[in-house]
Amino acid sequence: MDKEFKRTLVTCALPYANGPVHIGHLAGAYIPGDIYVRYLRLRGEDVVFVCGSDEHGVPITIKAREQGVTPQDIVDRYHKVMKDAFAGLGINFDIYSRTTSKVHEANASEFFRKLYDEGKFITKSSMQYYDTEAKTFLADRYIEGTCPKCGNPHAYGDQCEKCGSTLSPEELIDPHSRLGGGAIEKRETTHWYLPLDRYEPWLRDWILEQHKEWKGNVYGQCKSWLDNGLQPRAVSRDLDWGVPVPVEGAEGKVLYVWFDAPIGYISNTKELLPESWEKWWKSEDTRLVHFIGKDNIVFHCIVFPSMMKAYGDYVLPDNVPSNEFLNLEGDKISTSRNWAVWVDEYEKQFPGEEDVLRYVLCANAPETKDNDFTWKDFQQRNNSELVAIFGNFVNRAVVLTQKYFGGVVPENLKPEAIDAETLASIVPCREALEKDIETYHFREALKEAMNIARIGNKYISDAEPWKVAKTDMDRAASILYTCLQICADLAVAFEPFTPFAAARLREMLRVGIDAGEDYRSGEGAPTENFFTSLEGKAVHTRRSGSPLEENGLPVLRWSDLGSTEILAPGHVLGEATLLFRKIEDAEIDAQIARLAAIKAQNEAAAKEREAAEAAKKIEPQKSEVTFEDFGRMDIRTATVLAAERVPKTDKLLKLTIDTGIDERTIVSGIAEFYSPEEMVGKQIVILSNLSPRTIRGIESRGMILMAKQGDGKMRFVTPQEPLVPGAVVG
Ligand code: 2FM
Ligand code: ZN
Repeated sequence: MDKEFKRTLVTCALPYANGPVHIGHLAGAYIPGDIYVRYLRLRGEDVVFVCGSDEHGVPITIKAREQGVTPQDIVDRYHKVMKDAFAGLGINFDIYSRTTSKVHEANASEFFRKLYDEGKFITKSSMQYYDTEAKTFLADRYIEGTCPKCGNPHAYGDQCEKCGSTLSPEELIDPHSRLGGGAIEKRETTHWYLPLDRYEPWLRDWILEQHKEWKGNVYGQCKSWLDNGLQPRAVSRDLDWGVPVPVEGAEGKVLYVWFDAPIGYISNTKELLPESWEKWWKSEDTRLVHFIGKDNIVFHCIVFPSMMKAYGDYVLPDNVPSNEFLNLEGDKISTSRNWAVWVDEYEKQFPGEEDVLRYVLCANAPETKDNDFTWKDFQQRNNSELVAIFGNFVNRAVVLTQKYFGGVVPENLKPEAIDAETLASIVPCREALEKDIETYHFREALKEAMNIARIGNKYISDAEPWKVAKTDMDRAASILYTCLQICADLAVAFEPFTPFAAARLREMLRVGIDAGEDYRSGEGAPTENFFTSLEGKAVHTRRSGSPLEENGLPVLRWSDLGSTEILAPGHVLGEATLLFRKIEDAEIDAQIARLAAIKAQNEAAAKEREAAEAAKKIEPQKSEVTFEDFGRMDIRTATVLAAERVPKTDKLLKLTIDTGIDERTIVSGIAEFYSPEEMVGKQIVILSNLSPRTIRGIESRGMILMAKQGDGKMRFVTPQEPLVPGAVVG
């Protein structure tokens, strides 16, 4: 770890408060961010962990409109849902605030105003789409049309969610308003722009030369943006929801959500630490790390750094670890299609199993490419890794110690070389763990932690203390002494990944842990909060420099990992409990069935939508005919007297009809759409002087007039009120 930094400021992307958190969010930014922070705290580093809800922007106003409530109602609801979901999963932000806070409004305004006063913006007038009925400009997602890149008819003015392209409203084919289909036109409007092009040479050097260590996906996206040339970017919008542009004459304009949201990181730090926030944001000694998903890369690597550069004295990110996307059962996670595992629902359905989700999402994290979450994999990783390796080893070690030594760490009475070798083999695991976490390779780091459990499992299986105890209690003492040291290693190594299980393990071992300074109550005071946050159990201590013994109990530190003796002989253990439980097939089947039902619903809805779209397709007009041409056609009403299927065909009905002038037979290709019974008694319209044709050996005299729209279904034309057969149409 770089020694020149004195503190680390970690942020996770502020999620939009327009829906609950799902596993894609967790895997992208929040689980890795929390693992990183927990690790740094364990190492005694000074860390602040900042997040909050992103409560502005068009997605929120659209949701409010859909639900007939105010944007404030929407953000109030989801801010709580998201905050609770993160806390429930043990994602321990020091602050989780919101961009509708007073502190943020003042801070974002001040940020804009400084750039404005110093002439860092340019203004530009342009023609933008305007809804003449709703009397409003149509920013970003208020405008919809067909994507020029993939043909998706529901692309937005800022992005196509189908192919992921960034778009501008001008690029959309057939643009229309999402505010109820009112007419649109282009009107002139003026906005402030950050001239990103001016920062391009600096960005090229800062990212492409000085940050070659950034992850390949992040570096690659930045390079591609920079190689394509940066354009000035609007930082204001014509909207009534957001931070008002703090300039006279800017009525009806707010800061663009992507301008105000990242400033939220600063505002939230300021809210947490009103006296000392500047130390975190304005000192070269601070390492700033942004955890984000891949759709946020450009904003965190190019736009926000340019804003901070323009402002002047803020630190720039040292790294922006970004994950790719997580799919669910082979399909893209989608809020609108309800194709997701929602964290608040998971917490209700799997209470006490928060660590399983954390573990699976880290073990299977989309670190270098998109990855898939499946419920079968979730079950498999729980049952054959967490239960069978980690849980099983700890359980054997603690239960056997209870059985043979009354729950007291035995003396190392009869050591053998394998004991020391086994403990020594944990040291390289610790080194690899450190390197992996510090370079943001969390999947690999988790494998290393699990390797420690594998080492323990192999050791206890080979040493067989349950057999040895029958003949050699001294040797059994040494084996279990060694096993308990490995258990203590696991309590440290798993704290960043599965903090609830690590806490349960510490209870079993009756040890505390030194997890560094806690800023949650602001200004560096350790809080009661954290002591009681894990199931109300006081198993943590957070104060750096705390004594090795607290309340007479040993306190673990990161540096203990791989030591020869962590738990001294004579230390009394707590009760043995199960760290993890087996997840049964029925629980997984229920989840798979839920998703199958959603998929079926989505497919039915998509078919309906497709049919409705197709129905709208109108055929072009045929070439002109003369009045005389038309006059030669004898079109009249008729009544169906009898109907039957033409044998051996699927499509043909033989109809006997009363034309007013005669009774005749018409063969018509409508059997796909109407049964014979449905047709009897119906009034129809026919072309009666069409030359006779023989179809399947039946002479057909005339043609029934049918209307066909884009869905392909033929419907017969019928008079608006009953008429006598033979009434002339024309
Ligand atoms: O993509 C999103 O959900 C955005 N709300 C992330 C914002 S991150 C930061 F800039 F606040
Ligand atoms: Zn597209």
